Amino acid sequence: GVQRTLSIVKPDAVSKNVIGEIYSRFEKAGLRIVAAKMLRLSREQAEGFYAEHKGRPFFPALVDFMTSGPVTVQVLEGEGAVLQNRELMGATNPKEAAAGTIRADFAESIDANAVHGSDSEESAAREIAFFFSTSELCERV
Ligand code: CMP
Repeated sequence: GVQRTLSIVKPDAVSKNVIGEIYSRFEKAGLRIVAAKMLRLSREQAEGFYAEHKGRPFFPALVDFMTSGPVTVQVLEGEGAVLQNRELMGATNPKEAAAGTIRADFAESIDANAVHGSDSEESAAREIAFFFSTSELCERV
C-alpha cells in the first residue's frame, strides 16, 4: 500500500551540496516529496528525535553530529515507501552499503552517513509528527 516515511538529509550531505542528487534518487524511484524543510536542529530536537538511542555509546556523537550544520527533513510518499527508502539508502554503515545506494555513494562513516530514514511505519508516523503538522503534508495531484 501507499505509505509515508520520514527522511533526513544529514549535515554531511548538505555540506557536500548533494541535496538535489539525493532528492533525485527518491524521485527516480517513484517516491514523491509531500513535505520538506531545511533547519538546524537544536540539541533538544536531536535528543528528542533520537530518544530511542539514548544510553547507547554512540548517542553523544550522534547528537553532536546532527546539530553540526543544517539538515533537510522531508516526507516521502509512495508504494512501500518505508522499505523503498531504506533500500535506496543502503546499510547504516556506509562500508557495508551496497553499490549504488545513497550511503555507498555519499557517506563517509557510520556517524556521517548522509541520510536517515524511518525503520517502520510506526516510526514513520512518530517521526513525521515530530517535524510536521498535518497541514504541512501536501496532497500530490
Ligand atoms: P540513523 O538512521 O540516523 O539512526 C541513528 C544513527 O546513529 C544512525 O543512523 C547512525 O548514523 C548513528 N550510529 C552511530 N553508530 C551507530 C551504531 N553502532 N549503530 C547504529 N547507529 C549508529
